[in-house]
Order: sequence, then structure tokens, then C-alpha cells
Amino acid sequence: MSTVELHPSSKGLHGTLQVPGDKSISHRAVIFSALAEGTSHVYNFLTGEDCLRTVEAFRKLGVRIDQSDDRLTIYGQGINQLKEPTTPIYFGNSGTTARLMSGVLAALPFFTAAYGDESLAKRPMDRVVVPLEQMGAKIYGREEAARLPLAFAGEKLTGSKVNLNVKSAQVKSAVLLAGMLAEGETTVYEKGVTRNHTEMLMPQYGISIASQGQTHTIRGNQQPVAADIHVPGDISSAAFFFVAGLLTKDSEITIKRVGLNSSRDGIVTALKKMGADLTISNQWTVGREPVGDVTVRSSSLQAVTIGGDLIANLIDEIPILALAATQAEGTTVIKDAKELRVKETDRIAAVANNLSALGADVEAMEDGLMIHGPTPLTGGALPSFGDHRIGMMAAVASLITDSKVLIEDKDCINISYPSFFDHLSQVMK
Ligand code: S3P
Repeated sequence: MSTVELHPSSKGLHGTLQVPGDKSISHRAVIFSALAEGTSHVYNFLTGEDCLRTVEAFRKLGVRIDQSDDRLTIYGQGINQLKEPTTPIYFGNSGTTARLMSGVLAALPFFTAAYGDESLAKRPMDRVVVPLEQMGAKIYGREEAARLPLAFAGEKLTGSKVNLNVKSAQVKSAVLLAGMLAEGETTVYEKGVTRNHTEMLMPQYGISIASQGQTHTIRGNQQPVAADIHVPGDISSAAFFFVAGLLTKDSEITIKRVGLNSSRDGIVTALKKMGADLTISNQWTVGREPVGDVTVRSSSLQAVTIGGDLIANLIDEIPILALAATQAEGTTVIKDAKELRVKETDRIAAVANNLSALGADVEAMEDGLMIHGPTPLTGGALPSFGDHRIGMMAAVASLITDSKVLIEDKDCINISYPSFFDHLSQVMK
């Protein structure tokens, strides 16, 4: 297993960096480009393992996709030219590939089978299978199609009115993709606000969609047309450097071109509430997505209570927010976050385990975490549980521990942030 040994920062973090492209937008740009008619380009594509699974999935369906560093050229031939793959599609660790591709595969007129790694095989798929079945999909799999591997029999889908019972952008997107390929109109009713990148990208590929609050209506039988997409930096990756800069003494770092979509910027809201010295400059838009440069400086933090609608907006940032809370004055409560139990690993258990191992005062709750701070952190050996964000949380923690931190299975960080350790050493110089 790949292990890394990290030492506390001695002189603070300084400089400027640009984090890789947004994971959610990279997946979606590949999906729409590969379904499109014409040649699309994706710039600043995230070359992490998860997004490459989506690329591989479409290669298996017969689409030519050329990659040169973080640039993709996708030679779309249109939906009708996609080919039945002769072997199963591998989704690896990628929940987004699994859920979004289910919406596509369920609607294509041929048989496909798909599977994932051990972690993905444990994650719930019924949340996407049930609404797709409501549209007429025939899907078979383990535990009555609640778990991968799944097989999609290739039925023509019928537009439906679909009420989602889980707050999930992945599920919403799967149903919208299926709706785009179905016969007739589909309306999706969401339980709450979730990231809206699918709705933002659709018009750029010539797809018409009407959104009113959390209700989205899409016409069926729509063929996307090619587009060029510039992917903003991933706020979920930048968040590790926000917290690194805030917690480490004598630090000032700027992360450039961070995506600041209002359905994704909850981490900025939460950190500011905690008293973080965090400023945003150079705000503009890339495609339809707002971006800006984020500067953070060492700060004294206060505890905060986070729950309700804000949770979906910062769900992937909770591990790193929990680390920040160990250094905040008072008791931080993170609630309504039960979804963390079904991420790449059980993130409530993993965060509580790892932060406690470093000497933090953390209680795991059924739907969140309670963290009493501030506590000094000690060194130690930490498992990543094969979860990229748990691994990166441990790496940021090592900046403020009193001795070295060993991270076991560090390679899982390549899932979303292959250049993470290079960027960390860049700001530590
Ligand atoms: C994602 C949505 C979120 C998030 C995941 C990416 C997406 O998952 O945690 O990392 O790209 O739609 P859920 O839809 O399960 O909330």
C-alpha cells in the first residue's frame, strides 16, 4: 500500500496556486460532448481517476475521445451512433459516473452491464434505479438492483413526473439525462437545492430545460450539439487549501479561478461564519459558471452550527471543515448530514476515527459530528479508508500536528486531485 510521511509546516504557507478542474462539471462535459453531434473540446478537464472513468465509459460505447494533458477533444457522432459494448463498463470508485451513466444507459436501445470497485459496490444505486424504472427502464442487479453490478436492458423510456426522495444532484442529473433521451416530457421535483451544473450545461449543448426553483422540466428526444467548455477550478479541492491557509500560522495563499457557483460555495459561507480571513477577488464567469480568486490568511476560528439546506451545498467539504473545527473555539455541530454515511467510505466514522487519533475531541452522531475545540493535534498513522477526501484531510492536518503524520493508501487522492502533493509542497516552500 502507498504510504506518505508528512511533517508539520515550520514557516507557514505562501504563494498562489490553481487547483484542477471541477469534478462534477468535468463528468458532465464529457457526457454531453459524447452524446452530442459534432466535435467538442473540454479545457481544464480534471484528469483524476473518477472523471477518466466517464471518458472510458463513452470510449466503450464507441466514442473517440482524445486527451492531451487537461484538454479533451470529443468526436461526438450523435446518440444514434453509440454502439453496444461487448464487455461490462467499469465505473471504478466513481459514484458520479455510476449514477449519471445509469440515466444514459437505461435509455440507450441496447444491453449494457456495469460494475464498480469494492467501495462503489456498497453504495446505494436504488436511489437512481427506482426513478428510472418509473420511466420504464429495465434494470437488473444485486439486491434487486440496489447495488452494482447492474445490467441495463435498453428499453425506450417514457417521460414522467418524478418526485425525488433523496437530495442528490447525481440522481436529479440521471433523471434529466434519461428525460432528454425519453419519449415525451419529464418533470423532476427535488426535495431541496442541489448543485445545478447539469441544468447550467444543458443550454450550452443546445438542450432546452426549464427550471423553476427545484422543479425541472425537460422535453424528450433531444440531440445535444457540440460545445467548447472551460471547466472552473474545483471548490471542493480548493477547500483543502482554504483550511490549510487558515490553520497554519503566518500563512497567506491565493487559489485562483475557483468555481463559486452558489450551489457549491457553502464552504466559503461556513468558514466566514467561523471568522476566517477569506477574501474573493477577480470575480467573473466562465461559460455560465461564476469563478474568482480566493485568498486566505491565518485566522482564529470560532465554532459554528451547520445543518439544513447548507449541507448539500458543502457535503464534500465536511471532512476538511471538521478539521477546521478542531481548531475553533467552542463546540461545532454538523447535523442533517446522514448522506456522509454512504459516500466513498462512511465519512462520519472515518473523520471521527482519524481526528480522534490525532487527539481531537470529536463525537460521531448518526447524522453528523460534534467537535469540541480547540485542541492541539499530535502526529500518528492514519488510514485513508481508500477515500480521497479523507486522505487529503489527513495531509492538511499534518501541517499543524506536533510530529509527523503517516497516511496509508495515499494513492486514492488521485481520484479527484492527482497534483495535490505537488501543490502542497509548492505552498510550503
Ligand atoms: C455530485 C453530487 C454529490 C457529491 C459528489 C458529486 C455530482 O453527490 O457528493 O461528489 O457531481 O452530482 P450526491 O448527488 O450523492 O449528493
